[in-house]
Amino acid sequence: MHALKGHNGISQADYDEFRAYLQEVCGIVLGDNKQYLVCSRLSHLLAETGLETVSALVREAQRMGLKDQIVDAMTTNETLWFRDTYPFTYLRDNMLPEWRDNSKTKVRIWSAACSSGQEPYSLSISVEECKRRYGLTPSVEIVATDVSSTMLNRARRGEYERMALGRGLSNDRLQTWFEPQQNDCWTVKPAIKSRVTFRTLNLLENYISLGKFDAIYCRNVLIYFSVELKTEILDKMYHSLKPGGYLFLGASEGLNHMADHYEMIHSNPGIIYKAK
Ligand SMILES: C[S@@+](CC[C@H](N)C(=O)[O-])C[C@H]1O[C@@H](n2cnc3c(N)ncnc32)[C@H](O)[C@@H]1O
Repeated sequence: MHALKGHNGISQADYDEFRAYLQEVCGIVLGDNKQYLVCSRLSHLLAETGLETVSALVREAQRMGLKDQIVDAMTTNETLWFRDTYPFTYLRDNMLPEWRDNSKTKVRIWSAACSSGQEPYSLSISVEECKRRYGLTPSVEIVATDVSSTMLNRARRGEYERMALGRGLSNDRLQTWFEPQQNDCWTVKPAIKSRVTFRTLNLLENYISLGKFDAIYCRNVLIYFSVELKTEILDKMYHSLKPGGYLFLGASEGLNHMADHYEMIHSNPGIIYKAK
């Protein structure tokens, strides 16, 4: 028996059970009043599975293999090309020339919550732009990860509709780095795609298998987590960075307790963190 459903279509007990489940599987913390969001995002999954309540969904998640679909439904995948601009211009105009001057021949960059691919592909375009502007750059490998398999599949295809391309991509970059398809979509050119590899990774897990990086972009994902989890993730990221490596966070995200481990570079309007 389930407690009575409130006016949001989900009982408080169901809602609390679901919140605890979601936080456990992917770290996302839901506020006290997000019943409407849960109902609207899970309605198709309930219809598909024939399960009647969110609580039943949680109970059956393991047996029916629903975890990925639940996480997919509950993650916010909002992203755009060259988001906030400075993380990409700083790579093109400062980091890559610095690495080249330090005789680095191979560097590794991690896009740690890459959604549908705009961030890693914007990084890859910045590398190509650096090559054109300044000549030789080190060879760059970009590892792009996300917990959502739907987003990763979309990112791997590298195909975007005009509306998604309109969000942050100049016409000049579109013409230079994308190829038009017949269906009014454009695909990322092989030169941009080939240096990006996509992998499923839940930020709750450990990152040792990814190896060490010269730069990590972990942007607009920590905001969904608890302070304790943010702290844990920032700690693991620090250990995934090579000494002198760079960390980029989202505009509303900060370093908490890890500030002592980094030198702060103020790149008006953003802050870049360089590991000590
Ligand atoms: C708002 S998007 C940010 C995309 C991109 N970094 C940007 O700044 O435009 C947040 C992404 O974080 C992913 N995400 C949420 N929880 C995660 C977790 N526990 N592990 C890995 N990725 C997660 C979501 O699937 C989503 O694609």
